[in-house]
Amino acid sequence: MKFFIDTANLEEIKKAKALGILDGVTTNPSLISKESIIDKESIMNHYVSICNLLENEEDVSAEIISTNYMDMIQEGEKLSLLHPKIVVKIPICEDGIKAIKFLSKKNIKTNCTLVFSIGQAILAAKSGSYYVSPFLGRLDDISSNGLNLIKDIKNIYENYHFKTNILAASIRHPLHIIECAKIGIHAITSPLKVICDLVKHPLTNTGLDKFLEDYKKKF
Ligand code: E4P
Repeated sequence: MKFFIDTANLEEIKKAKALGILDGVTTNPSLISKESIIDKESIMNHYVSICNLLENEEDVSAEIISTNYMDMIQEGEKLSLLHPKIVVKIPICEDGIKAIKFLSKKNIKTNCTLVFSIGQAILAAKSGSYYVSPFLGRLDDISSNGLNLIKDIKNIYENYHFKTNILAASIRHPLHIIECAKIGIHAITSPLKVICDLVKHPLTNTGLDKFLEDYKKKF
């Protein structure tokens, strides 16, 4: 199971990398907007800085902001040339599907994002996207079951041997990650806090306190 961190913050990426369990990074325009980046051209430098922080980790999803086919492919190509680790993140829509097809044919990795339905996930796979990003948390927020969507996508992809990798996104809590693992999802992208929350258990804390106390008493 691949662990990606969902952030554009260099310090957070460094912390996640230091854990030794990081496989990649995903960003989106909202996450980029949170960083102290002064202009549009500096965004490109920021993506390169993220890529340069990573060594063995696989890839960095950088999202396009264009909304029509010609601009999408132009922006996608520009992003892909920034660094070999860049995966071009493209929102699902008719032009987006066409752009994913075009870029995939050129062996440029894509991540089809903002996926909230089975139909969208089928189109992402048909267009040859390397990743599909269904948004778990945002579905849960509107009382729709994000995990059921992910299960359905996995079954359908298996039925047709689609090669697109499922990257569960909009992860809000450790149970999302655990349930994705049970389903056998290829990858999750999560805030660092949720990944760190996986390590916590009250019995571990009390157990460790007791071990140290007993050791100290005796020695
Ligand atoms: C996915 O790639 C998105 O960047 C992200 O997971 C969205 O998460 P949010 O719903 O917490 O904003």
